[in-house]
Amino acid sequence: MTIKIGLMGCGVVADYGHIPAIKAVEELELTSIYDPDPARLREMQQRHGVGQAFTDVDAFFESGIDAVTLTSPAPAHTRNVADAARHRKPVLCEKPLSMTEDEGRSMIAAMADADLPLYVGFCYRFSPAALEIKRLVDDGAIGDVRSLRLIYNWDCHGKYYRPDPHGRPDHWVTDPRRDGRMAEGGPMVDCGTHQIDLAVWWLGSPIVRHHGHGAWVDDYHAPDHVWVHMDHANGAHTMVEISYSYGHTTRDKFSHFAYELIGADGMVVYHRNHGFFELRTHQETRRLPYSEEKEFVGMYRAFAEALDAGRNGHLCTAEEALRVTAIARHATDQVIAQRLAPSA
Ligand SMILES: NC(=O)c1ccc[n+]([C@@H]2O[C@H](COP(=O)([O-])OP(=O)(O)OC[C@H]3O[C@@H](n4cnc5c(N)ncnc54)[C@H](O)[C@@H]3O)[C@@H](O)[C@H]2O)c1
Repeated sequence: MTIKIGLMGCGVVADYGHIPAIKAVEELELTSIYDPDPARLREMQQRHGVGQAFTDVDAFFESGIDAVTLTSPAPAHTRNVADAARHRKPVLCEKPLSMTEDEGRSMIAAMADADLPLYVGFCYRFSPAALEIKRLVDDGAIGDVRSLRLIYNWDCHGKYYRPDPHGRPDHWVTDPRRDGRMAEGGPMVDCGTHQIDLAVWWLGSPIVRHHGHGAWVDDYHAPDHVWVHMDHANGAHTMVEISYSYGHTTRDKFSHFAYELIGADGMVVYHRNHGFFELRTHQETRRLPYSEEKEFVGMYRAFAEALDAGRNGHLCTAEEALRVTAIARHATDQVIAQRLAPSA
């Protein structure tokens, strides 16, 4: 039986990630889309050939959909989930789950009261490379995993020095998506939640202590280069480093994306920039099949199975996502508080 999906939020990630993935999964059909911006809505309806498009929330939910996927910005998630609960539709929500912990809890409560599942779209889990790391860790391939270094430094669409067409002084122009991500909490809350989630999921061990550090390369409320150090219940340590100002003003772009898992008997190293993915132990050095870090199709296969058979599989539950998001926000808030505190 085909499951009819509705999508709310016709932006960039819906365009390149979610909509193509939903269309690639046989059990799913994208029947309805919603966006408050009519121009964006029509453009996406035409580009992806979606049957029904709405700027009215209730009409969208009453259009015959079985489940909803939320690809709206984080500040819209709480209201979107409340509407889904009211209309009794299961939800797959983009990360970060919510802007505050209280909002996240209210979303979980609304869906639990309606007896409906709420999943969060941590698509990195479904990358074949991430799944391979999970298998290797579970199999003890590198012994006890004691230390993780998870890094994603990039420009988050950048900041450009532009000649002014009206003859006024030249000026800096920031990509509005970068401003949006910084307003939602900055790099640790946005991309960093993927890495924190991976660390907890790979090790199967919760975080018991964490501490944030940060730097302001640019002028936002949140720091734009953030580190979080986290101790797991099993004694392992994870360091996540995320920057949105790594070459953000340079003409030619840089990025640095790495997973490094260090165990008592070896290492797993993944470097996106070099397409490098290797297992090294005392017995062998093995090249592993490289894949990109994002995987939306696998996530939607899991969503289809969850809706059909009630099995979560590797999907991230809202409860897990709430813990991850709380760490990312708290670490960011710690950095802001340290900056504001008078120095001793
Ligand atoms: N998983 C990933 O790898 C990944 C990548 C990029 C973005 N994201 C997340 O996806 C979300 C969207 O990001 P984006 O880059 O596509 O943003 P975007 O700004 O390009 O698009 C957001 C869209 O949502 C619409 N919108 C605004 N208010 C809405 C509401 N109340 N209900 C429904 N739609 C509404 C906007 O009109 C816009 O079309 C963010 O939470 C972001 O953190 C995840």
